[in-house]
Amino acid sequence: MNPAGTGAQSIAELFWWMCGGGLLIWAVVMGIALYATQAHPEAHGIRSARWLILGGGIIFPVVVLTGLLTYGLMLMPPLRSTTDIDLRVDVSGEQWWWRVSYQTEAGAVVELANEIRLPVGERVAFSLTSPDVIHSFWIPSLGGKVDMIPGRTNELMLEPTETGTFRGACAEYCGTSHALMNFAVVVMTRDAFDQWLAEQAKPAQQPETELQQAGQQAFLANGCGACHQVRGTEADGTVGPDLTHVGSRLTLAAGTLPADVDAFRRWIGHSSEIKPDVRMPAFGMLSEAQLNAMAHYLKGLK
Ligand code: CUA
Repeated sequence: MNPAGTGAQSIAELFWWMCGGGLLIWAVVMGIALYATQAHPEAHGIRSARWLILGGGIIFPVVVLTGLLTYGLMLMPPLRSTTDIDLRVDVSGEQWWWRVSYQTEAGAVVELANEIRLPVGERVAFSLTSPDVIHSFWIPSLGGKVDMIPGRTNELMLEPTETGTFRGACAEYCGTSHALMNFAVVVMTRDAFDQWLAEQAKPAQQPETELQQAGQQAFLANGCGACHQVRGTEADGTVGPDLTHVGSRLTLAAGTLPADVDAFRRWIGHSSEIKPDVRMPAFGMLSEAQLNAMAHYLKGLK
């Protein structure tokens, strides 16, 4: 209803035409129904009644539906065109988060999670897949949704027309925490986007305070690096989200929590209470002091 991309614009137009057409036809049908309750049966001969049934029951729907189908099909080729692609983003839907990878101009792959940033006015090709079950990738403000199916890669073209922060969601039931699988989409100017991508490509910041150092030690000592990568440290797991710049993200746990220190602490200690059936075990056996130190370390990974 509030498009900020060319795909969403076409879908909104189609929706309003359908809505207006549906309303008009509903009004006409209701008018005829009302008339039928009032009219005398003798007022119409058998011939005119036949014509009414033929016209209203067959000819009219065929004409209207053919028109709408043609209009709907005509909207599709420009939305799916793969020419003039400015940027490619790979996204994998996983239970219950989003693995996002960009390629820099130097050819390096930058992986992050649950956040997508795009330059405004440029055509983006998304390659969508999944390693576990079927998910569906949907940014309502920018365009239509496309399924992410294990074993195949689907393509989706989007072109944002406005800067701002939009919400993306999983639109296919994929297990217990399907509703807790969201992501932020930030559309920015080309310069700001380039700067952001260059920052994301860098290795992680070293801890600055003693508290952050203690947090890094606890992070490495408790085996977090078996699932998570923090580039520039010995943590090189690939099962879970890349945390190299997790402190710079807008949300935590795929749009479930705000990205503040308190949320990091709660998430590490109580992950399964916040997101039922989540793969990451809750580290409730850690002391409050350790959880606090880890939260400060992770928030510091800007
Ligand atoms: Cu992933 Cu629903």
